[in-house]
Amino acid sequence: MTKIAVAKGDGIGPEIMDAVLSIFNAAHVPLEYDFVDMGKWVFDKGFSNGMTPEAQQTIESLGILFKGPMETPKGKGVKSVNVTARKTWNTYANKRTFQTLHGVDTVFSKAGIPIDITIVRENIEDTYGGIEHMLTNDVALSRRFITRPGSMQVIKYAFEMAKKKGARRITCGHKANIMKITDGLFLEVFYEVAKEYPELNADDVIVDDLCMKLVSKPDLFDVVVLTNLQGDIVSDLCAGLVGGLGFAPSANIGDHISIFEAVHGTAPDIAGKNIANPTALLLSGFGMLRHLGLMETSAMIENALLYTLESGKHTGDFGDKNSPALNTTEFAATIIGNFGKQPVHNPKPLLKNMPVTPTVFKLEKNPMLETRETVEEFIVGVDMFIESNEQPNLVAEKCLKHTLDIFKLVTISNRGTQVWPKGSVFTNLVNQYRCRFESLGDTPLTQTDILALYKRLMQDFKICSTELLNMWGDKKAYSLAQGQ
Ligand code: NAI
Repeated sequence: MTKIAVAKGDGIGPEIMDAVLSIFNAAHVPLEYDFVDMGKWVFDKGFSNGMTPEAQQTIESLGILFKGPMETPKGKGVKSVNVTARKTWNTYANKRTFQTLHGVDTVFSKAGIPIDITIVRENIEDTYGGIEHMLTNDVALSRRFITRPGSMQVIKYAFEMAKKKGARRITCGHKANIMKITDGLFLEVFYEVAKEYPELNADDVIVDDLCMKLVSKPDLFDVVVLTNLQGDIVSDLCAGLVGGLGFAPSANIGDHISIFEAVHGTAPDIAGKNIANPTALLLSGFGMLRHLGLMETSAMIENALLYTLESGKHTGDFGDKNSPALNTTEFAATIIGNFGKQPVHNPKPLLKNMPVTPTVFKLEKNPMLETRETVEEFIVGVDMFIESNEQPNLVAEKCLKHTLDIFKLVTISNRGTQVWPKGSVFTNLVNQYRCRFESLGDTPLTQTDILALYKRLMQDFKICSTELLNMWGDKKAYSLAQGQ
């Protein structure tokens, strides 16, 4: 029998996990559970990543984690165990499926507009590295990483999944019109991968337009792939379309380890009352059963859930307020009582079980994800981020003293808007400038040249940060300032 790791989590976690496992046990799901220690109480015991070393070892050796929501202790400088788990084990694709559930009333279900949207969100990169610094007392900076191999992993997964699903359309959501280099890279990889799937209808939509279209015409979309933060926001929007967080399942898919969990959190306001809705965790469980090839078992339980919802049974967070709400245990028992029943709407076909045993990987070293860059790379300049509360002309005057006959000062910007050599006096300033220096001639620069400039500028400014300006062949590997 396949063994998986289970972490019940905090808040409502243990209640909803017990409810789901009681349903699995009643359905004789052929899985064995190894319960592991993760969550707030593990943080409180002094384990800074929210899990014990034994838990980590068990999850790494079993490859599948079914988890309840976990609380991130506030103000202790610790990172979320949920995010740590996804990042540590490189579960690069966060798949969230949103489908109309009959019995869960929404504006769209009432209007007869069916929803079946799968959001695939990149799960590792973007601003979620949490690499943030205060450059001055007034200026905070977050680093946003979008990488070619990271984008490739999640986009390939999305296309492969869309193909298996027989999707009508696969859409890339992005903001490449503004973030030309980061989102531009994600979009470029999307169309590169799309070439390998000519049978799929691939297109892209700018993320703000996507949000507008999702709330007005959700039935236009099928599979949507996005970067991490945009995907986070858009997937919660989609949860709202089908009835809220109580119906939003999620799978974090990696090459070695996968994590299945609900989208919602620990719901501290209702924890310990046995009134939480276990549906989102149960739906996440179906994703896990299908991942393990247990199609028939999953479909049988799913039909019982759909039948239960159609018959108007509900927990307190949804459904007809005039009919009494069931508590968590009663709701689970009702689903068990409906095993074998068929819902009227969207019954799931009972495909045969084809159990897949997760491959146990023994990695000797960390996999290095690298794509070969064949073009020549050279340094043509540097952006120096300096602290100053002086006017742009004075900053420029000081910079121009230090160009060492190798550099020219090209532009100075403040919050990304050019303020020198041209600008507007109406542009509000903060006490941190970006001064862009480029090579005076055509000769590429060296890191030693950059260091010499750094040392000279130090005489007049505190340098908060530096960034090299690279050329990849004839392509600029940096963006221009607004107005440059
Ligand atoms: P939350 O999702 O826990 O709660 C938001 C609202 O939805 C609350 O009113 C809650 O009662 C309700 N709700 C959530 N799940 C429900 C369910 N299954 N049945 C009925 N009602 C439900 O979000 P919140 O309050 O922002 O976060 C609470 C904690 O959860 C925080 O510590 C947060 O860090 C953590 N969290 C953990 C996640 C995870 O483990 N993947 C995801 C999101 C938050």
